[in-house]
Amino acid sequence: MAGSESRYQNFLEALGRERLRRDLSNVAAKDARTVEIGGRAYVNLASNDYLALRFHEALAARAGEWARCFGAGSGASRLVTGNLDLFARIEHKVAALKQKPKALIMASGFQANASVLQALFDRRAIGAEPLVFADRLNHASMHFGCKAAGVRQLRYRHGDAAHLTELLTQHQADSRPKFILTESVFSMDGDRAPIPEIVALARTHDATLIVDDAHATGILGEGGRGLSDGADIVVGTFSKALGSFGAYVACSKTMRDYLVNRCSGFIYSTALPPPVLGAIDAALDLIPGMDQKRAHVARLAARFREGAQARGYDTGASTTQIVPVIVGSADAALALSAKLRDAGFWATAIRPPTVPQGTARVRFAFTASHEAADVDLLLDVLGGMAAPQAAKAASA
Ligand SMILES: Cc1ncc(COP(=O)(O)O)c(C=O)c1O
Repeated sequence: MAGSESRYQNFLEALGRERLRRDLSNVAAKDARTVEIGGRAYVNLASNDYLALRFHEALAARAGEWARCFGAGSGASRLVTGNLDLFARIEHKVAALKQKPKALIMASGFQANASVLQALFDRRAIGAEPLVFADRLNHASMHFGCKAAGVRQLRYRHGDAAHLTELLTQHQADSRPKFILTESVFSMDGDRAPIPEIVALARTHDATLIVDDAHATGILGEGGRGLSDGADIVVGTFSKALGSFGAYVACSKTMRDYLVNRCSGFIYSTALPPPVLGAIDAALDLIPGMDQKRAHVARLAARFREGAQARGYDTGASTTQIVPVIVGSADAALALSAKLRDAGFWATAIRPPTVPQGTARVRFAFTASHEAADVDLLLDVLGGMAAPQAAKAASA
């Protein structure tokens, strides 16, 4: 093996021994409800396409139309010649949905968090190292952004406004700029941050509140506008309930202007291509009118939570379309996922480091493509399995 490659091979082998190695499964998807793997169709419970928009005719049609009219690619970054006028139209719709003065489209949610946070925490701009108060379970991309900025996060216990209050109070005499970072709906737990309390704390302590609304935009909140009301800066993606790809930042005019000047992920990356913009544009038109679909998804998730809990499973603090079944060890999560697969359900085992040690789980995501009968069948399968009590103990 050349150079350091054997070291990486050793690392991979160690991951394999710890049951933490990840491998890609080749899939074929022809509709939102099922996924085909190795020639077999499974009910897909591992997709973030919460409103089943990925296969919606309107998205495909506008993506195709915009590809034909405006090209398959944008040709350059937006500060060069890639700033097609399509962006202004979409940013206007996003700002209206998020009830913010302005919006800025970014390439992806990961890239947005990684580069927006790095730009916002730049000492040269804000005059001092910021104090960043962050939920312990924030998405990897937010940690990445903090790391890229060289910021040491002050992490509060997950969803714990009292602990956040404690940390803010400890630092109340500190005049450095303060930020609070949280997701609105946590991607691996399906629970909600106490946003109104956090907004109040941000105001009391003169902190800038940044909310990642990735798993709420489109599927939760009035008219699908998400759960970020009161945040100063909202980051979200078009890759989940909006069914395609790309991300946005919704904020004030000043913050948008600053990001256009200082956010490396925006400045040095090619603008999203017109077909993707077409899909985003069509999804944004559909979202406000999808209350019935949102209610359907909420009912499915509630049905599953109640049924799973009644069968002795630990669904954590989920109150949304994302429902984890927490089983503790990586082995147990892999075994549960494999058994479900045998029964025709595709639900992924989520293991450390994505979730904390001892809380490995299978994550279920319900979408508008599922029916109550899918949930009932899934519950029958779970009901036929042993040891949920052991699973509970392992995750405690
Ligand atoms: C909370 C959160 N933020 C950001 C991202 C990244 O978004 P994207 O898939 O658009 O890169 C994800 C998705 O995995 C997420 O769960």
